[in-house]
Amino acid sequence: MKISQRLQQINRMVGPGYDHIWDCCCDHGLLGMLLLQRNAAPKVHFVDCVAPLMQQLSLELARFFPLQPISNPQNATEQTTTEQTANLQSEWQVHCLDVAALPLAQYGKQAKHLVIIAGVGGELLVELVRSIVANQQSQSDAHSGNDSSNHDLSQGARQLEFILCPVHHNYHVRSALAELGLSLKDEYLLEENQRFYEILHLTQANTSSKTNASSKTAEAVVPLSATGSIMWQGLDADKTRQAKRYLDQTIGHYQRIPEQRMPNKPQIVAAYQHILQQLNC
Ligand SMILES: C[S@@+](CC[C@H](N)C(=O)[O-])C[C@H]1O[C@@H](n2cnc3c(N)ncnc32)[C@H](O)[C@@H]1O
Repeated sequence: MKISQRLQQINRMVGPGYDHIWDCCCDHGLLGMLLLQRNAAPKVHFVDCVAPLMQQLSLELARFFPLQPISNPQNATEQTTTEQTANLQSEWQVHCLDVAALPLAQYGKQAKHLVIIAGVGGELLVELVRSIVANQQSQSDAHSGNDSSNHDLSQGARQLEFILCPVHHNYHVRSALAELGLSLKDEYLLEENQRFYEILHLTQANTSSKTNASSKTAEAVVPLSATGSIMWQGLDADKTRQAKRYLDQTIGHYQRIPEQRMPNKPQIVAAYQHILQQLNC
């Protein structure tokens, strides 16, 4: 099956170091299959709420990515740990459920999760992320005995990242997710079939702490801007033309919305126009 540029770009944005990757709202599971093909994490989860789709997907995964039998401990001694790690094939699991109820806590509080949600509208996407963060927060409060007014996001939060690609409403999505305390690791503007998509890689790691204490690796994290930041930087001539077309389209979209329906419309339009002016310099 032909895999879209959008899903291929999301696949490229997934780096190493996660214990669990969740392909949420996975539909036919094409993104998760790309991740399985390159053993992107020890476990890849496929989640969608449509039961027949998930039954069909389970059959296809069993055929094309048969799960390895649990190895015999006697044979295990014949391989070094490095060899075992190098040979490890990703496991997979299919879940038929509402993404809002993702069971992250079942996998222990030390596990590092990457949750990917793509191809759904901005409002639904925000609601799903809000639920996942709230569930994770209440579970971490339950472990630490914190009350809800004294959140300590520092430990559990570092273990949860998102890659998100909403269909429409990027300004709303970005503003809402910044309010949830998410920061930006990376972002990418993509055009496919005359439609634009913003792909966001977000983390709960604090923008002031640039070192991930769990992995001891330096990672750049910046505040999440409502209109984008990294994706407007260092563009070549082609990408600059593309970005300008996207900004023109976005500004036109907001200008057509009646101000009574969107009181902050002038600020939104001005913010996008400011980026356009900078690209024109
Ligand atoms: C258009 S497909 C997106 C497929 C793929 N992620 C992509 O980007 O191409 C949207 C999928 O989201 C699923 N979906 C919508 N809301 C959901 C929810 N709350 N929980 C789980 N799946 C959901 C639908 O069943 C559908 O298969």
